Amino acid sequence: MANELQFLKVCKNGLVQIRNFHRTAAVFADKPRNKKFSIYRWDPEQPNQKPYQKEYTVDLNNCGPMVLDALIKIKNEVDPTLTFRRSCREGICGSCSMNLDGLNSLACITKINSNLSKPMKIYPLPHMYVVKDLIPDMTHFYDQYKSIQPYLQRHDEVEIGKHQYLQSVKDRDKLDGLYECILCACCSTSCPSYWWAGDKYLGPAVLMQAYRWIIDSRDTLTSERLEKLKDTYSVFRCHTIMNCTSTCPKGLNPGLAIAHLKQLIVGVAKKPEPELDPMTLHQ
Ligand code: SF4
Ligand code: SF4
Ligand code: FES
Repeated sequence: MANELQFLKVCKNGLVQIRNFHRTAAVFADKPRNKKFSIYRWDPEQPNQKPYQKEYTVDLNNCGPMVLDALIKIKNEVDPTLTFRRSCREGICGSCSMNLDGLNSLACITKINSNLSKPMKIYPLPHMYVVKDLIPDMTHFYDQYKSIQPYLQRHDEVEIGKHQYLQSVKDRDKLDGLYECILCACCSTSCPSYWWAGDKYLGPAVLMQAYRWIIDSRDTLTSERLEKLKDTYSVFRCHTIMNCTSTCPKGLNPGLAIAHLKQLIVGVAKKPEPELDPMTLHQ
């Protein structure tokens, strides 16, 4: 009986707390929470207009919690000319990467800074050519990605699609922390080496993917892939400043992948033999 009374008391306290929370929320909801957003604007169709910052005000009581929510609200309700990329709105497609209050991140998974006293500053990814407003030109980034041949390759001639290539669980684990990259370019565009030598230095995103294919136990083009990276710029412009790792919105570690890659290129580490012969089913 004493236990039941205790339980009822806890429930009652809980209900009172919930009611108070709703009362407080209602008081706040009555008062607009106006937040300013200072957004980079540039339109190639107005060649005489230089890039500028445009300020918009959004009442956070009527807006979702993420920066992308505010951008969509501004575009839908205030200024349809505001241009930005987005697709999945859940940190999967990598298209809404931009510079938010000085940090590269994904607008869809970055919370709006709720400090109403200063505007949130939004720019396109730094050191990229701009197509329009918040949209960077990714052509060079994708060309660099293409250059590392980001797909499985083998020397043996087999009928593609006939059998699986086998891989042990331990060898598969080596791809964790690499394959999850969504190629948002937040890391590469936060890397000072990439800012200054991006024409020849591949940058952290592309290098992490190069390492992903080099370390894959099913891929046999290891020495050819490493040979292609063996020059002063492609990899060795990385000076281990680690901006890339601290900015990655997916919590990946491109700086570490580059360190492993350097070890393989200079020969102080070797790719381990596959635990399981990938060709077992083909023989
Ligand atoms: S660790 Fe290398 S790739 Fe990463 S930010 Fe520094 S220089 Fe750039
Ligand atoms: S490593 Fe992270 S920051 Fe770099 S492209 Fe991949 S997901 Fe984006
Ligand atoms: S909209 Fe896809 S990652 Fe943000």
